[in-house]
Amino acid sequence: MEHNIWQQKWVIGNWKMNGDLHGNNALVHKLRNFPVADKVCIGISPPTMYLLQVHNAVQIVLNNKIHTCAQDVSRFAGKGAYTGEVSAEMMKDVGVDIVLIGHSERSLYFNEKNDIQRLKIENVLNVGLLPLLCVGESLKEREDGREKEAVAYQLSVLKGLKTKNFAVAYEPVWAIGTGKIATKEQIADMHQFIYEEILSLCGKDVNIRVLYGGSVNDKNAADIFSVPHVDGALVGGASLKYESFAAIISAAQEA
Ligand code: PGA
Repeated sequence: MEHNIWQQKWVIGNWKMNGDLHGNNALVHKLRNFPVADKVCIGISPPTMYLLQVHNAVQIVLNNKIHTCAQDVSRFAGKGAYTGEVSAEMMKDVGVDIVLIGHSERSLYFNEKNDIQRLKIENVLNVGLLPLLCVGESLKEREDGREKEAVAYQLSVLKGLKTKNFAVAYEPVWAIGTGKIATKEQIADMHQFIYEEILSLCGKDVNIRVLYGGSVNDKNAADIFSVPHVDGALVGGASLKYESFAAIISAAQEA
């Protein structure tokens, strides 16, 4: 990694369960001509099936390094009789750099909580990849004024990890895919809280990136990037089209 990613804004496209061979190639190849964005750490997180395709395609991107990111990883390490699973070792083998852990959709549909997230984070760290932990409160927790309590509990999985590098995405569940966006005050408040929590859980001598996620698009990105302690964005829907994803990268470069 040529630039220090801990000083860059990160823009990571979470494709979720979207994409196909033809469309993925077209999208990544358009990024080939994207102007230099040296202040941005760009990542693409396709479905597991397409990790190798995306990794191979981004090797020929000329101007910017594009990181290959996985959306999830097995709780099991190495190899073994775990039908349907893909290990962190395999992800490293095909060129993955960053692995999303604990996205709220994993929690909602697969009931993944802190204990499983912790196993996954350790597997990712053990093979030298970077986990990106997703946290965020539900609408009910926000309405009850318990948003920080909820996020603090989710962040507690980071305690005692053998790493100095902590990447977190704050994604209020009520803002994901809904078009609702947290206010700048809500974002600033929570991002500062997450910084303080990481520093108190993991020590002062650490690298931190806290990304915002939830309905980030080409219209609101510049505004969000202007909020203190916002170190980038995890982008779902708007990462599926070149024009909107490129505009968000540009906004990060200019922030
Ligand atoms: P969205 O998704 O940008 O479509 O709201 C973000 C995410 O879930 O990572």
